[in-house]
Amino acid sequence: MSDSQIKIALTKGRVEEQVIPLLEASGINCDQIRNKQRRLIFDSKTQPYEFILAKGPDVTTFLERGAVDIGIVGSDILVEHQSTQYELLDLELGKCQFVLASTKDFDPNEPKRKIIGTKYPNITKKYFDKLGQDVEIIKIEGSVELAPLTGLADAIVDITETGTTIKENNLVIYDYLDKVSTRLVVNRMALKQHPKEIYALVDNLSSTINNEEIIK
Ligand code: PRP
Repeated sequence: MSDSQIKIALTKGRVEEQVIPLLEASGINCDQIRNKQRRLIFDSKTQPYEFILAKGPDVTTFLERGAVDIGIVGSDILVEHQSTQYELLDLELGKCQFVLASTKDFDPNEPKRKIIGTKYPNITKKYFDKLGQDVEIIKIEGSVELAPLTGLADAIVDITETGTTIKENNLVIYDYLDKVSTRLVVNRMALKQHPKEIYALVDNLSSTINNEEIIK
């Protein structure tokens, strides 16, 4: 890897799948990532970026420790991990929303200490603090919808994109919390070292996003 290259941590999975077409529409070749197999680092001699693929929470860690210059990650992760990095662009992808959901028989107003399952304990605590409710939070790593269905929790705080998972598991939405989308965040030190390159990338992506909006 060359020192002048901008290192970008891209969240693997859904974010990766949605961001690659945006990068390509902006003239950034993503063939290596598309054909990645088990590789995690993508370095090209023909373009000024090196990409790494990482899990969302780790993207914030790489960024905070200066191991990468830029992170592309959901705002859900940034808020949950209280990231203090500098957000430069909303990519307007991965749009989803936090919801409070449970089975049909759940009563959000029942005066008892609720048990809430979630991948986002900080966001959940903040939400119930605002309501003035003390709840027990159980951290779950995935398939959060199982929590109320199995009796592990009274309800969940989770993100929903299409609503399919909630619907197919016969859950009901009881409240809507913050909206979520994919953001481009930058390490402040990296911005001082490579302002030209980083702002050029942001301008490039931003004009692709705006052009696609015009086309829509
Ligand atoms: C997320 C979220 C929901 C699902 C919602 O999980 O936690 O389970 O997506 O999407 P939908 O509204 O489009 O159905 P993800 O797919 O990231 O996997 P996980 O369950 O392993 O966390």
